[in-house]
Amino acid sequence: MSDSVKQSIIKLAQAIWSSDDLCFVDTERTQGLREDILRNFLALAMTDDERAQMLGLSHGCRVRESAKIISPQNLTCGENVWIGENVILDASGGLEVGSHTTFGVASLVWTHSSSFSNIMMDNRSGNPWIVRNPTRIGSGCYIGGPSSIYPGVTIGNKVIVLPMSVVTEDVPDNVMVGGSPAKVIRSIDADWMVQYQKKNGLS
Ligand SMILES: CC(C)(COP(=O)(O)OP(=O)(O)OC[C@H]1O[C@@H](n2cnc3c(N)ncnc32)[C@H](O)[C@@H]1OP(=O)(O)O)[C@@H](O)C(=O)NCCC(=O)NCCS
Repeated sequence: MSDSVKQSIIKLAQAIWSSDDLCFVDTERTQGLREDILRNFLALAMTDDERAQMLGLSHGCRVRESAKIISPQNLTCGENVWIGENVILDASGGLEVGSHTTFGVASLVWTHSSSFSNIMMDNRSGNPWIVRNPTRIGSGCYIGGPSSIYPGVTIGNKVIVLPMSVVTEDVPDNVMVGGSPAKVIRSIDADWMVQYQKKNGLS
């Protein structure tokens, strides 16, 4: 993209930022959020590797358009991670991701739950009922989208999560899991690798 197009986008974003018409609520909360909204808006004009760099991710990471990382400062992410369109990675409770892992389109990874605030009829911003638990996803994992991974879950290395799964419990290394709640379907072992290569004409 040419520099003049980038400059126009930045000028437009600055106009939105400073426009009184668009600032309906001028509180500390909206001021804090607005910066993040502006950054996401600018990110639409970036390539997937530029977006990853903007978020401070490691070498070789790529973040597709409309992916969202909540509290990126609490994300530890290895190299060559691919984050697909409309993925949500919630790092608010602490999120670790190994290297060479993929998050398929529209995967959802959670480190918090706000459900108790609804039950308590106290669904205000900043309510005291939010539960946060760190989530860990290993290296060499493929998270088929759309799947949902619950707060506090640890997924091992070289795990395939089949599309439309809901992962509610820890998953060991080298397995394929699927379903809701996700269960182990098979091992990802040498036999599976040979069969997979044969089935798909990979040498
Ligand atoms: C999973 C994958 C690696 C194939 O591995 P495979 O060993 O050939 O797996 P299979 O297709 O045989 O499925 C394994 C088993 O899981 C079941 N399964 C497949 N998808 C499932 C799902 N989403 N949920 C639950 N079970 C599922 C199959 O029915 C099969 O069961 P069976 O052993 O009783 O027959 C491959 O299909 C894949 O990557 N799929 C995702 C594709 C995708 O998301 N692409 C997006 C672009 S990157």
